[in-house]
Amino acid sequence: MTGAQGPGRARVAILISGRGSNMAALIEAARAEGYPAQIVLIVSNEADAAGLATAEASGIETATVAHRAFADRDAFERALDERLREARADIVCLAGFMRVLTPPFVERWTGRLINIHPSLLPAYRGLHTHARALADGVRIHGCTAHFVVPELDAGPIIAQAAVSVLAGDHEASLGSRVLAQEHIVYPMALRLVASGAARLEGGRCVLSGGVGGPERALLVPPP
Ligand code: GRF
Repeated sequence: MTGAQGPGRARVAILISGRGSNMAALIEAARAEGYPAQIVLIVSNEADAAGLATAEASGIETATVAHRAFADRDAFERALDERLREARADIVCLAGFMRVLTPPFVERWTGRLINIHPSLLPAYRGLHTHARALADGVRIHGCTAHFVVPELDAGPIIAQAAVSVLAGDHEASLGSRVLAQEHIVYPMALRLVASGAARLEGGRCVLSGGVGGPERALLVPPP
């Protein structure tokens, strides 16, 4: 990592529980020359997560830390933490990781633990975000990459992408358009964090000068 961690590419571990499409997007992005992070380890809490096979096919080290094999959450998180330290991870990305992490774990990785969530936070924390957005009749929905804090889906926002909700949208159609944006936003957020351009400071995500680009408005329906 740059900055406090010294020069070089940040070592990144990704935690998954399932499909791993965001994981695949991060792996792909990290292949690009000049990307400030390298993916060193994929950990799943489910032995049969489809994402593990994808990671192996990409030649990336994988591990299963099965939560069911541990007596309690604390023992599971200690094993997880040990595996991440063994890999000398600088940053941990949650990518569809379906276990809630407790404050001691989150605090150990503060500022170095990030997540992708399928809504425009702070709207729709938790599950079934697309169905809830549709039920509310919102015109704009999207995804958020954020630092992880102990409160679920409440961490400082690094980057977001918005999509318009179309007439006739259903959960799957809206979800797939949001997912396509997740695959753009998450690699971008990891780039910002790994390069030191996005930092967690005083409970907020601070972006270095110049990051942010021009003012832009999304109007739905368009004028
Ligand atoms: C994504 O929608 C992500 O936002 C959420 O879980 C889903 C994981 O999908 N946290 P994938 O495993 O990355 O394909």
